[in-house]
Amino acid sequence: MARDTHGPQQRVRPQPMSPQGVRAPPGALLLLLLAVLGPPTEGCPQSCACDHLLVNCTQKDLDSFPPGIPLDTRQLVLAGNRLSWLPSVSLNILMDLVYLDCSSNELGDTLEATFVSLPLVYLDLSFNNLSRVSASAFSLLHSLVVLKLSDNPGLVEVEKDAFANNTGLRELDLSRTGLTFLDASTVSQLPNLRTLGLSANPWHCYCPLRELCVWLESSTLYFPDADAISCHSPHQVQGILVSAMEENLNLMCFTNLYEKDYIFLMLIGFAIFAMGTGVAWITGVCVVLYNRACKSKEDDEDYEDTQVCPQPPRQNAKDEDFEVYINAYV
Ligand SMILES: *[C@@H]1O[C@H](CO)[C@@H](O)[C@H](O)[C@H]1NC(C)=O
Ligand SMILES: *[C@@H]1O[C@H](CO)[C@@H](O)[C@H](O)[C@H]1NC(C)=O
Ligand SMILES: *[C@@H]1O[C@H](CO)[C@@H](O)[C@H](O)[C@H]1NC(C)=O
Repeated sequence: MARDTHGPQQRVRPQPMSPQGVRAPPGALLLLLLAVLGPPTEGCPQSCACDHLLVNCTQKDLDSFPPGIPLDTRQLVLAGNRLSWLPSVSLNILMDLVYLDCSSNELGDTLEATFVSLPLVYLDLSFNNLSRVSASAFSLLHSLVVLKLSDNPGLVEVEKDAFANNTGLRELDLSRTGLTFLDASTVSQLPNLRTLGLSANPWHCYCPLRELCVWLESSTLYFPDADAISCHSPHQVQGILVSAMEENLNLMCFTNLYEKDYIFLMLIGFAIFAMGTGVAWITGVCVVLYNRACKSKEDDEDYEDTQVCPQPPRQNAKDEDFEVYINAYV
């Protein structure tokens, strides 16, 4: 009897359906094998609701990616769980996935190799714990049309070319994040963008943001909640619309001088001063010499050249006369 109860327990233990098992290569092989053996369309992850090509795992208290998602799933909803990462292999094996909602989870900044070969059109990563969007995070999602990254309070950086490959993007939401800066070209170069969420971010309205301000003012995109795209710092401009900051920034950035500018100006000033002093000194010497020469000529009635100190001085030959005079004097 004791042996009989012991046996099944030992057999149960090595079943590798933990998330670690799925992430490791053997798990991937298993899934590939399943794919070869036949489309498991009937399967549905435990505790998820499946309907045709939709798998809905909304608010199922999942702390890891659910195993057993049918490979032909087109729409996957994982909203409202506690996922802190997405396993690349299990996700990218869903080769028909066009819609992925991972909002309201705990996804961190580990999106580097997460999205590799998915035909995603809609991707929702709002209400997560993202801290940074790198240039490669979404660079292979060529079909993306809607990307939601809003409500990630720790999101403080979006790299310059983060969406350079997402040329089909029509809607991008970066509202309510921790962004203080965004390079204008990151969003201004997207040919199909229609809606851009930038509201309620702590924008730092200083010189680097000038380009974005200028672009915002002239852009014809739709900016939801545009009244909340305002400066958070520096405190002098807090609450002012970012799009109204251009003149302020022109004033701030083109009249403000940095330390090296002051040193440069001081050098220039000194050079001008030195040159001025030199010129004044030479002029003074010349005048003195000229005056003395004239005096000595008045004293000496026998001096040959009577035109050297004319009472109304001649216009054209003045310099030559001057030179002759100085030479004569010396
Ligand atoms: C998923 O299920 C939730 C309820 O559990 C529902 O509110 C939501 O609309 C469903 N999502 C989709 C895309 O059907
Ligand atoms: C969010 O990310 C930060 C690091 O970026 C981490 O310290 C924190 O624990 C994360 N929070 C949650 C709820 O996962
Ligand atoms: C954009 O996509 C092309 C083609 O897939 C790829 O070679 C390139 O590396 C991508 N660009 C970036 C910035 O990743």
